[in-house]
Amino acid sequence: MDRLQILGGIPLDGEVRISGAKNAALPILAATLLVDGLVRVGNVPHLQDVTTTNELLGRMGVSVTINERMGVEVDASSIREFVAPYDLVKTMRASILVLGPLLARFGRADVSLPGGCAIGARPVNIHVTGLQQMGADIKIENGYIKARASRLKGARLVLDTVTVTGTENLMMAATLASGTTVLENAAREPEVVDLANFLNTMGAKISGHGTDTITIEGVESLHGGSYEVLPDRIEAGTYLLAGAITRGRVMVKNVIPGHLDAVIAKLREAGGTVTLGDSTIAIDMRGRRPLSVDIRTAPYPAFPTDMQAQFAALNTIADGVGTVTETIFENRFMHMLEMRRLGAEIRLEGNTAIIRGVPQLTAAPVMATDLRASASLVLAGLVAEGRTEIERIYHIDRGYEALEEKMQSLGARIKRIPD
Ligand code: EPU
Repeated sequence: MDRLQILGGIPLDGEVRISGAKNAALPILAATLLVDGLVRVGNVPHLQDVTTTNELLGRMGVSVTINERMGVEVDASSIREFVAPYDLVKTMRASILVLGPLLARFGRADVSLPGGCAIGARPVNIHVTGLQQMGADIKIENGYIKARASRLKGARLVLDTVTVTGTENLMMAATLASGTTVLENAAREPEVVDLANFLNTMGAKISGHGTDTITIEGVESLHGGSYEVLPDRIEAGTYLLAGAITRGRVMVKNVIPGHLDAVIAKLREAGGTVTLGDSTIAIDMRGRRPLSVDIRTAPYPAFPTDMQAQFAALNTIADGVGTVTETIFENRFMHMLEMRRLGAEIRLEGNTAIIRGVPQLTAAPVMATDLRASASLVLAGLVAEGRTEIERIYHIDRGYEALEEKMQSLGARIKRIPD
């Protein structure tokens, strides 16, 4: 397995272009299953999770063409199978996103039930219950969700918990249902909005996306078209943190600054001078040590769980004591234990980590446990004295396009060591 080697201590300085958002590209690719005709999706990031999604579609018989300039072209008319098999779902939970589209368009879906996950239990009960309320017959058999329906019927669904992929699955299913569906307590994440915009471009009738009540008027069919995926706010946030933690100066380009309000507020609290452009965000630490910040994760527009680990890394070397409280996932603190190996002073109390900033971390071998945990270890490695080696970096390749190249372009001394 490849490793990453980082020589810490260099303030980052430069500009970096942000890729398309993983968590928008994955549902949009799944949503192509709903479309009658050819779909072109642009600004799709080159990531392992995108490759897995393309493979999943390909195995169903869907035609997927990757064109460097135009993006990904998908035509689902050749579909033969309606199965998301265990061997793919176990590597990527987002495979569950094909459940709603397959059921709505083809009346059947066999999707392997995702198992445990490194960050929490992550059940999919809300996806299943919602589809049942729309008239689907669903059984769990041999580790698979086996769903059948003639035509789904619109319904008023009140979601128990705010769930991103749950909202997406039900919204996709409702586009082809008969009648109107109302999703209450829906997720408001920009990626949900992007998916709704994609579906509307293809002829769906969705309104209220971006609020907690989404209304979907079912239509007979969706038509082909082109769409560009929105920029990745978590990738952007991660590079801004790389600037902050190294006391450097980083500008992220091709972003939607309004999607990072909660993150920008915390960067300012940490002592960064943050400047916003139409599609850029710049942070300048003016060589100063960051100040500790308190973080509490919650659904959008509050502070994102996907930026929690990166801010934990910042707090490890910041001036003061900062707390990090995780309210979305039960077990998203594995990186804290690895950061202790770099000399961080972290005390865990339930879902809160109390981090006392130290003047200096020291390099050590560490292990990546999930995508955002890996990103936080890279950030810690950028400031640790000596050479930090991160193992199991396949997690990073799932969600950060060309991480080493982008970090190198900012001056980081980081390299991949192939096995
Ligand atoms: N939940 C349930 N039942 C359900 C669905 C969710 O209890 O049926 C709970 C979860 O266990 C969790 C909470 O609801 O406690 C919220 O989870 P959510 O469903 O929103 O998470 P997700 O849709 O599985 C997406 C992102 C994650 C991101 C979360 C939260 C994608 C493909 N994944 O996951 O991204 O952390 O929303 O914002 O969109 C990542 O990119 O590293 C990543 C993990």
